[in-house]
Amino acid sequence: MCGIVAYTGFRQAVPLLLEGLKRLEYRGYDSAGLAVISEGGKHFCVYKQAGKVSALARALETNGISARVGIAHTRWATHGIPNDINAHPHLSYDGEIVIVHNGIIENYASLRQRLEEKGISCRSDTDTEVLVNWIAWYRQQHPQKPWREILPEAFRAVEGTFGIAMLVRSMPDVVILVRRFSPLLIGIGQGEYIAASDATAIIPYTRRVIHLEEDEVAILSTSRTDPEIFSLREKQRTPQVEYIEWDLATIERGGYPHYMLKEIFEQPQAIRDCMRGRIRQEPLEVRLGGISSVMDRILAARRLTLLGCGTSWHAALVGEYLIEQLARVPVEVEYASEFRYRNPVITPEDVIIGISQSGETADTLGALRMAKERGALVLGITNVVGSSIPRETHAGIYIHAGPEIGVASTKAFTAQLTALSLFALHLGASRYSIDRNLHDTLIENLIEMPDLVNETIHSLNPQVQALAEKFASVSNVLYLGRGYNFPVALEGALKLKEISYIHAEGYPAAEMKHGPIALIDEGMPVIVIALRDSLYEKVIGNIQEVRSRGGWVIAIATTGDKEICHYAQEVLYVPEVPEPLSPMLTVLPMQLLAYYTAVIRGCDVDQPRNLAKSVTVE
Ligand code: AGP
Ligand code: GLU
Repeated sequence: MCGIVAYTGFRQAVPLLLEGLKRLEYRGYDSAGLAVISEGGKHFCVYKQAGKVSALARALETNGISARVGIAHTRWATHGIPNDINAHPHLSYDGEIVIVHNGIIENYASLRQRLEEKGISCRSDTDTEVLVNWIAWYRQQHPQKPWREILPEAFRAVEGTFGIAMLVRSMPDVVILVRRFSPLLIGIGQGEYIAASDATAIIPYTRRVIHLEEDEVAILSTSRTDPEIFSLREKQRTPQVEYIEWDLATIERGGYPHYMLKEIFEQPQAIRDCMRGRIRQEPLEVRLGGISSVMDRILAARRLTLLGCGTSWHAALVGEYLIEQLARVPVEVEYASEFRYRNPVITPEDVIIGISQSGETADTLGALRMAKERGALVLGITNVVGSSIPRETHAGIYIHAGPEIGVASTKAFTAQLTALSLFALHLGASRYSIDRNLHDTLIENLIEMPDLVNETIHSLNPQVQALAEKFASVSNVLYLGRGYNFPVALEGALKLKEISYIHAEGYPAAEMKHGPIALIDEGMPVIVIALRDSLYEKVIGNIQEVRSRGGWVIAIATTGDKEICHYAQEVLYVPEVPEPLSPMLTVLPMQLLAYYTAVIRGCDVDQPRNLAKSVTVE
């Protein structure tokens, strides 16, 4: 995810592009840059650097560039750490094209190799520079062809997602846009066009927009009153100009009232992006390039230690079940804050994996530093590319969930579970410790997971919203789960307490009779994950213990299970999937329940009291 702005018209481009980037900075903010074609000139002026848009704006304050055409980018890195070289825009090797890009070029490595065989190398580590060189090389092979032919042919070899804005040196008043999956809107002004990743950068100038559709190209030129739009494939259409009604804040949140709800609904995409380029077909296998260089040490390890804080620690608990079942390697899970101070026994044979959305959590970073000093192999499973944990560990896996703005972690959690599932499958296959059928079945179900998550969120949303009306006045809640879903019970409790301020605790369902059952009184809500899995009968027994003491049981159950209705007063159904993957679904009603309960209670959902998105202090 990132922010793109492009302009061609009568205004000064630099201040307009910078203002647009500031409005889009919530989409990504690790580096920023812009490129303009100077007045009357035939050359590009490219300015880019690591850091926020404000730093770029300061750097350009005294520059006095006069230009009417330009493109700009605020980055959320996926390939190549945030630094000046990897910042966008990227100039092609021949200096003819400059580009900004939102998305992931899945086959950038093979394209880069093909270019290197032609003597064309990249300066940066990004997939984007490979793309601009690929387009430039293809155009050099066919100098007489129009863009209408060059782009469809060049993009035939490109796999992945992209929202692109590009300038061509020989076409000084033109901006070219190409879109596959990553959004791009075109603002239609009087004698000007402003394109951007979303409408926040456009509506100060016009509310008339055209949404580029899948695999479409737009050529914006002030010599025309309408953009030239064509498809990378054969499909043609007559673009419709729409009118944006939303205000700025609503647009930033994609029309959702809070970032947390937007991010709950973004989970299908986060899971899809986490798997992007990491599952090979024929034969089905998982590829994790980020750890391939240390795979020998991982395979030699007699145990793995997973550590994290909060939600990431809950993901680590699910990881323990996944890795022990699928790869048959002993796993220990540690609170990072405890691990780093208890003088643990760590040897060079140890593999310590830190899980952290922000990649900056002080306790997780501190624990990893200590383990590294003692000779262990340290890995990171993180979301923010180039953050401290991926910089300081030997290797790792990025979850590619995109920026998570809401303090309560949602899409990062399900993306962490996706990454841990891929890791466990990859390790199990590498150790020949997983049954081939189970391996393939789990991968096939993982591939289907984004759609299942999407269906589940949409089907449960109205029911959970109604349930929250009854929930908002409670003062204590218990969450129960077993096996893979015990960590989800903990996660559900954390979600509720951190944004609605209702006291909630998660327990293994079997733990009830060892104390917590004393809490149950008339009407006390108990949320129980009761899937039709290997532990169903035992969970039913736990539910009956709660009901016999007057508890109010809300069950998260398997679609089609009617028996559960005899035991639970409310049932929230999720689709049946193999047990190891079920947490990605059972967590969804819990996220929604916490969200709607907090809204009804008038809490600050995105920035709950006393909390911060990244806990960089101990
Ligand atoms: C989760 O909703 C909380 N915001 C918090 O527990 C969070 O998971 C924890 O602080 C760890 O953050 P990290 O994943 O960025 O390391
Ligand atoms: N994949 C590109 C990069 O890492 C674009 C990332 C983005 O969408 O900001 O530079």
